Amino acid sequence: SRKVLIDVDTGVDDALGILLAIHSDDVDVAAITTVNGNVSLETATLNTCKIVEMTGASHIPVVPGANQPLVRTSYFEHRIHGADGIGGALAEFTPTKKPENDYAADYMIELAKKSTQPLTFIMTGPLTNLAEALQKCPELPTYLDEVIFMGGVVDDIGNVTPVAEYNMYVDPEAARIVLEAGFKKLTQVGLDVTRKALLTEAHLQQLDNTKYGEYIRQSTSDYMARYIERNGVKACAMHDPLAVAVAIQPALVTTQQLFVDIETSSRLCDGQTVCDFQGRLDQQPNVHVSLKVDADAFLNLFVHTISVPQEG
Ligand code: BDR
Ligand code: CA
Repeated sequence: SRKVLIDVDTGVDDALGILLAIHSDDVDVAAITTVNGNVSLETATLNTCKIVEMTGASHIPVVPGANQPLVRTSYFEHRIHGADGIGGALAEFTPTKKPENDYAADYMIELAKKSTQPLTFIMTGPLTNLAEALQKCPELPTYLDEVIFMGGVVDDIGNVTPVAEYNMYVDPEAARIVLEAGFKKLTQVGLDVTRKALLTEAHLQQLDNTKYGEYIRQSTSDYMARYIERNGVKACAMHDPLAVAVAIQPALVTTQQLFVDIETSSRLCDGQTVCDFQGRLDQQPNVHVSLKVDADAFLNLFVHTISVPQEG
């Protein structure tokens, strides 16, 4: 199976991505690094430890990283993910699992350098940790097989501002460093596809009476309520789990190699990912941009993979 590091700002959907990765036989989670994003670094790290311990995979190291974006101030998403980041689920649970006494950017570099098998990074939060790793080790791309990131939007509207997706908006300077780093394969899983990957009541019912059924109902409940306000349907957009699923089954999305840049100095457009569909900027493609998704196949994969029997 494919060796991966996952970088998260756990987050309702980050947590679901972690569950998917841990239970998939097609990826082997070498480590999980955490970053400031939806919630503070401290909360993202705590949530990640809770999720990892809930799965029983406490051997997976959880490594904290940046506690703020490279140059900007934090922008939390408590309205969507709840005060605690995972919609109030696992509130009473104090994990025995503790984070490593290490730093994400350094850990990423070490892991990449010592890895004897191909390694993929899956990024589901702002790109601060990877940007810091690249600043410290500009040759990092030579050690990595692929980087898959959930972020941006190229052919649709934003979800924080009219044009910007959240992970890009929070740390656009970091995103620029990643876009320009020269990765062998940099795959974007943006709102163009993640918006079409919706977890609905029917999926929750399939998960009822499985190990994570109750957790997922609780964790996604407020998120779904917010989603109804804006979109009129009860659903949870599976942004981060789709990025994980692309590592498991790349054919779930249809990609096109294109040049993508990001706006960092605009009154209205900071964090906008600008994709040069018509080659007007005369630049080499740097991103495999996901433009279509087989949403049903993805949700089947997700539900099937995490349908673990209830204990006891
Ligand atoms: C992204 O923003 C976060 O709120 C989610 O966890 C996801 O990574 C979606 O725009
Ligand atoms: Ca996230």
